[in-house]
Amino acid sequence: MNQIQQIREEAIQAIESSQSLEEIKKVHVDFFAKKGKITSLMSQMRNLSPEERPVFGQQVNELKNELQQAYDAKLEVLNQAAMDQKLASEKIDLTLPGIDFSFGHVHPLMIVQREIEQIFMEMGYDVLEGDEVELDLYNFERANIPKDHPARDMQDTFYITDELLLRTHTTAIQMRALEANNGEIPIRVICPGKVYRKDDDDATHSHQFNQIEGLVVGHGVTLSDLKGTLELLAKRMFGQNRHIRFRPSYFQFTEPSVEVDVSCHMCDGEGCSVCKDTGYIEILGAGMVHPAVLEMAGFEDKTITGFAFGVGLERVAMLKYGIEDIRSFYTNDARFLKQFERFE
Ligand code: PHE
Repeated sequence: MNQIQQIREEAIQAIESSQSLEEIKKVHVDFFAKKGKITSLMSQMRNLSPEERPVFGQQVNELKNELQQAYDAKLEVLNQAAMDQKLASEKIDLTLPGIDFSFGHVHPLMIVQREIEQIFMEMGYDVLEGDEVELDLYNFERANIPKDHPARDMQDTFYITDELLLRTHTTAIQMRALEANNGEIPIRVICPGKVYRKDDDDATHSHQFNQIEGLVVGHGVTLSDLKGTLELLAKRMFGQNRHIRFRPSYFQFTEPSVEVDVSCHMCDGEGCSVCKDTGYIEILGAGMVHPAVLEMAGFEDKTITGFAFGVGLERVAMLKYGIEDIRSFYTNDARFLKQFERFE
């Protein structure tokens, strides 16, 4: 009986002095668990006489119930305290300003490129890319511009070796496409990419810019097919009221060659500063693929003809978005670029 009283005092003392969940758990181990003091009291029963056993058992049970209650009450208090502490330390201040994530978006030139690609893909064209470092063969010779021909002066070139250069136009991709097709038709491709010319940089010139060129080859392809195609492009890019006009021009790889003007989207052809009071804006060069070009690429059937065109992406983007300096595309001023977020 003394022992019961002693354990009672010890346990109450241990429960009361517990300050944390760890401490109260230790009380559980010391008193209630399998090897705890209350359990060992029970095992002393077998040393008692049969008359003493029920009395002792009852006492131990009472002790157990009493201590369990004290233990549970304390556990609840400590649990609540731990929870309060956790809540206090993890407090979130919902009135603080949020973190400003800034996401990138598509570059204006890429917006225009994707738009043009989309227009032509809808008409069944494939998109072809090539290498920026190109052979003289595909950049010039196959385009009917032999070595030392004066037409090379139209495109001042960065040469790497006598035979290797930075492509001056994406026409090089088209020349490869012609060769790869080896006389097979139809060909319907558009070729976007960076091109390089030894120009001095200013508001309208850049030593590196982007082109997107098109090539169609088939039986009886005509200049009016070219006109219809480019008119559709002009309407999709600059509005349904646009029309185009052809002016005679010169390219070594097309015959006839034309310069293509679009009626001004700013003044509707009335005359304004954008079109320099002419009502028209020059946007691209085009023409019927020169027979010599087809022949060099292995096309023998004379009923096979083709058209080609080439447009500068920067020029289209500048007209479309009213950008005045071509260098804005490359200097990466975030304030400039951010304006195009909404056009994606
Ligand atoms: N390759 C020409 C240029 O870079 C553009 C062009 C392409 C002209 C196709 C006619 C036909 O200026």
